[in-house]
Amino acid sequence: MSRSPRQTVIAGNWKMYKTSATAKSYVDKLVPLVADAKPLVYLSVAFPLIPFLSQAAQGTNIVIGAQNMHDAEEGAFTGEVSSAMLNDAGAEFVILGHSERRHVFGETSLFVNQKVHRAIKEGLQPMVCIGETQQQREQGLTEKIVKEQLLESLDGITANQLETVIIAYEPVWAIGTGLTATPEQAQISHAFCRDVIRSAWGFEAADVLPILYGGSVKPDNVRHIMEQEDVDGVLVGGASLEADSFAQIVNYQTLKG
Ligand code: 13P
Repeated sequence: MSRSPRQTVIAGNWKMYKTSATAKSYVDKLVPLVADAKPLVYLSVAFPLIPFLSQAAQGTNIVIGAQNMHDAEEGAFTGEVSSAMLNDAGAEFVILGHSERRHVFGETSLFVNQKVHRAIKEGLQPMVCIGETQQQREQGLTEKIVKEQLLESLDGITANQLETVIIAYEPVWAIGTGLTATPEQAQISHAFCRDVIRSAWGFEAADVLPILYGGSVKPDNVRHIMEQEDVDGVLVGGASLEADSFAQIVNYQTLKG
């Protein structure tokens, strides 16, 4: 089966790690290591690091983004950050609905959906995360949960707008646990997500939508995951914190094994 022209995206999610000094030495090291990479290289970082990193990434192939935002244009929301602020700081994309936002901070798909609309309005590329918990998988609810999260998080988004969206399927049980979905499990869920998108938004939209896998991706398992037909990239937490291991993941095609 020929591969559709979906872009391959290798994204790092630094979560709540690094300050400007450690971010600087990381980027200095990463830039030459990934300069010739074929995939798009995304780094999602804490708010205070965005202005510095977006400057440092200028003229490189590294795209800097945020990990969250509020859905309102502006307002009395102490501690929150708006899409305009992210734009102003130099972010080009934003992770929305990460499982840590959903499960630790109680964010619903409805809230995520409002953020997706806001991000698109602002010209920020949304990277929408979905995924089932261990218990939901054991209860045979994976498809139900993934479908609900997809349809609710993307409600009201047009097929045209969907062209700017990236989906990240991150099974909650695989995040930070060292348990990775097998390549086959990832493929089954990714193909299912694409089917859901196809039914709701049509063939073309589903064909070009990049669906990334996230959950304990490391240099030694990335190749087999990336070989799957419906896996268009990875979203990497822990292994993105070191420039060397993240660069190996970005350059996965050159890895052995
Ligand atoms: P780990 O790669 O540390 O499992 O984290 C995955 C993740 O949550 C990326 O967003």
